[in-house]
Amino acid sequence: MGSLVLLCGCLVALSPFIQADVDINMATSSQIHKNLNRTSAPCTEFWNFACGGFANASQYVDNFEWVEDQFAMAMVEFMESRMGENDIQAPQLIKQMRTYYKACTGDTLKLSLSDPPQVVWRWLQEESGMYLEHGLNGVFFDERVDVATNDSTRRVIQISMPDPSSRFSVLRALELLRLHDWEDEQEMLQLMAKLQQLQRKYKEDSPVVYTWTYNEIRRQLPIIKWDLIFGQLLGVHHTAKELEHLLFEVSDVEYLREAFQFLMDLDSGPKDMYLRIRQLVLIQEFVYQNREQDTRRLEEIMGSLKATFGKYLDANRLQLTPHQLTYVRAKLEGIQLKVGNLPAEKSPEFYDTYYESANFSESSFLGNLIQVLALRTRLQHAGLLKPESRLDLQRYYVNDNVLKARTSPFYENERNTITVPMEFLQFPLFDHRQHAIFQQSLMGAVLGHEMNHAFEQEGILFDASGNESPVGLAIRESQPFREAIKCAEEKPAISLKERLADLNGLQLAYDSFFGLHHDSRKLEYRPYAFEPEFKAPQLFHLSYAQFFCGSLPPVIAHDRDDERVDVSVGNLQQFAYDFSCPSSSSTCEMWRPREETAPTSDSHVNP
Ligand SMILES: *[C@@H]1O[C@H](CO)[C@@H](O)[C@H](O)[C@H]1NC(C)=O
Ligand SMILES: *[C@@H]1O[C@H](CO)[C@@H](O)[C@H](O)[C@H]1NC(C)=O
Ligand SMILES: *[C@@H]1O[C@H](CO)[C@@H](O)[C@H](O)[C@H]1NC(C)=O
Ligand SMILES: *[C@@H]1O[C@H](CO)[C@@H](O)[C@H](O)[C@H]1NC(C)=O
Ligand SMILES: [Zn+2]
Repeated sequence: MGSLVLLCGCLVALSPFIQADVDINMATSSQIHKNLNRTSAPCTEFWNFACGGFANASQYVDNFEWVEDQFAMAMVEFMESRMGENDIQAPQLIKQMRTYYKACTGDTLKLSLSDPPQVVWRWLQEESGMYLEHGLNGVFFDERVDVATNDSTRRVIQISMPDPSSRFSVLRALELLRLHDWEDEQEMLQLMAKLQQLQRKYKEDSPVVYTWTYNEIRRQLPIIKWDLIFGQLLGVHHTAKELEHLLFEVSDVEYLREAFQFLMDLDSGPKDMYLRIRQLVLIQEFVYQNREQDTRRLEEIMGSLKATFGKYLDANRLQLTPHQLTYVRAKLEGIQLKVGNLPAEKSPEFYDTYYESANFSESSFLGNLIQVLALRTRLQHAGLLKPESRLDLQRYYVNDNVLKARTSPFYENERNTITVPMEFLQFPLFDHRQHAIFQQSLMGAVLGHEMNHAFEQEGILFDASGNESPVGLAIRESQPFREAIKCAEEKPAISLKERLADLNGLQLAYDSFFGLHHDSRKLEYRPYAFEPEFKAPQLFHLSYAQFFCGSLPPVIAHDRDDERVDVSVGNLQQFAYDFSCPSSSSTCEMWRPREETAPTSDSHVNP
C-alpha cells in the first residue's frame, strides 16, 4: 500500500482545516461550545443541550457532510497538483486516478436524472441485456458473493429478494417515470407495484435459507434462467457441469417463484425499459470514498476497549461457564480493526494493476463510471470459477455494492472485523493530535458500539473466526443474557441490536477512559487548559453526544439521533453523577460489572 499511504500522506498534509499552528484541543473545545443549547436541561434532554446550537453554528447538515466536504476538498487539491507524478511504486494507479479525475471534471456531460442526455440513452439501449454485468443488482432479486455462514472462507452466492435499501432506487425510478412520457409507463408502474407487493407479502424477519448447489437451484427454481444470469456474471458461457461447484444460499424462495412467474408473463418491452431506468439511477447514485490515516491511534483505542472488556469478563456478570468464557475471550482477542475498506495485500504491484483492465478515458466520465462498475462486478465474481478456491484473506475487502454509502464504521460477523472508512477519520470526528478525552469519547464510543455488535444477540452466535457456533447459541439462551436483553427492550427500539450496541458501547468507552466504577462525586478535577468550563466527565459526554449533532431525518435501522443519545446516557449510571442529575433508579447493563456498592442517591454533587 506504499503509494496509497503516500497518497494519503499528501491528503493529510493538504487538509485545509487545521494548520499545524492551531491548537487542536482549543478548536475541538470551541466547536463543542458552539454546538450547545444552554437553555436546555442536560439531565432530561442531553442531545438538545449538547447539539441544540449545531444548526446555527454550522453550515453543514451534520458532521458527516462536514468531513465529506473536507475529504473532497483535499482530494481535489491532490488531483490538481503534480504530487505523486514521479511515484515509482504505483505509477499506473496514479495515472489512472488522474485520468478518471480529468474526465470527471472536464466532461461537461451532465447526468441529470430529470433530463438524461441522449448519449446515455443510446448507451443504455446498446447495452440492453448487460445490466448484471454492469453492476445493476437488486431489481428483481438480489445477488451477492459472500462467504458461507458455516465456513467463513468458502465463497457462496446469496440469492434473495431485493434488499430494503433498494427502495431508494425504486423511488428515484418512480420520480423519473413521472418526469417523462414513457411508452410503457402503465406497465412499468404495474411491474413496480407488483414487485413491492410481493416483497411485502413474503418479507420475513428470519427467512429460511437453503444451501443449494448449482444443479439444485436450477431444479428448485427452474423459472429463473440461471445459465443466462451466470453466463453474464462470470463473463463467459459455462456448462452447468463447470458451475456445479458453486454454492448458493437462497432465501425468499416463494417470493422468487412468484415474482419470476409474473415477470415471465410480462412483455419484454416494459421490463427492459424498467431495467434501463434502474441502470440510469444506479449510475447516478454511485458514490465512493476512501482514505487512510491514523491506524495506530485507533489501534490504541481498540486496545484499551479490549482491555476493559477483558475486565468485564473477569467479573463475569452473565455467569458464563469456563468454556463459554474462553469462547468470548477468543472472540474479543480476535476482533480485527481495518482502516479503510482495502485488502490486506499491500504490494504496490497489486494496487498498480488493480484497475488495469479498466479502460479509462480522459473525456467521458460516464464511460469511466461504467468501466468501474463493470470492473467491480468482474472482480467480485472472479474467484467463483475456481472450484475449491478459498477466500484469499489477503485480498478480501467488503463488497461495497450495497445501495447506501458506507461512511461510518461497521462490524462484520463473518470476519470478526471492524472497518473504519477513511473518510470518517477527519475533524470534527477525529484527529490524531486531539487530546485522548476527545478521541476516547467520540471514536471510543463509536468503536465500542461496533465492538459490542460482536457480543449482542446476533453477533454472539459467531465465533472468533466468523463461523456460527453452538457455544454462542448457548450463551444467548442463558438466563442472565436474556434478562440483560429484556432490560434494553423495555423502552421500544427500532433495532434491539443497535440499542444494545449503543448502551454497551458508551459504557465501555466511559470505563475505558475513566476506569471501572468511576465516581465523579468523590473526585476533584483539574480543568484542562483548553476547556475552562466543563470538567472532564462532562466534556466526555458532550464530545460523545456531539457526534450525533445535526438536523437529519431518522437514520435507517437506528433510532433517531436525539433518542439514541438520551437513552444511552440515561443508561450510564455515571452520567447522572457527572451532571448532578437525580440518579435514575434502573439502568440497563449487560457485560459491565455491577457497581461495588449501591449508589447513594441524592448526595450533593459538585463536579
Ligand atoms: C433549545 O432548547 C430549548 C428548550 O428545550 C428549546 O425550546 C429550543 O428550541 C432549543 N433551541 C434550539 C435551537 O434547538
Ligand atoms: C442563530 O444565530 C442568529 C445570528 O447569529 C441569531 O439571530 C439566532 O437567534 C440564532 N438562532 C438560534 C435558534 O439560536
Ligand atoms: C456447511 O454447510 C454445507 C451445506 O449444508 C455443507 O455441505 C458443508 O459441509 C458445511 N461446511 C462445514 C465446514 O460445516
Ligand atoms: C480496453 O480497450 C482495449 C483497446 O481498445 C480493448 O482491446 C480491451 O478489450 C478493452 N478492455 C475492456 C475491459 O473493455
Ligand atoms: Zn450498529
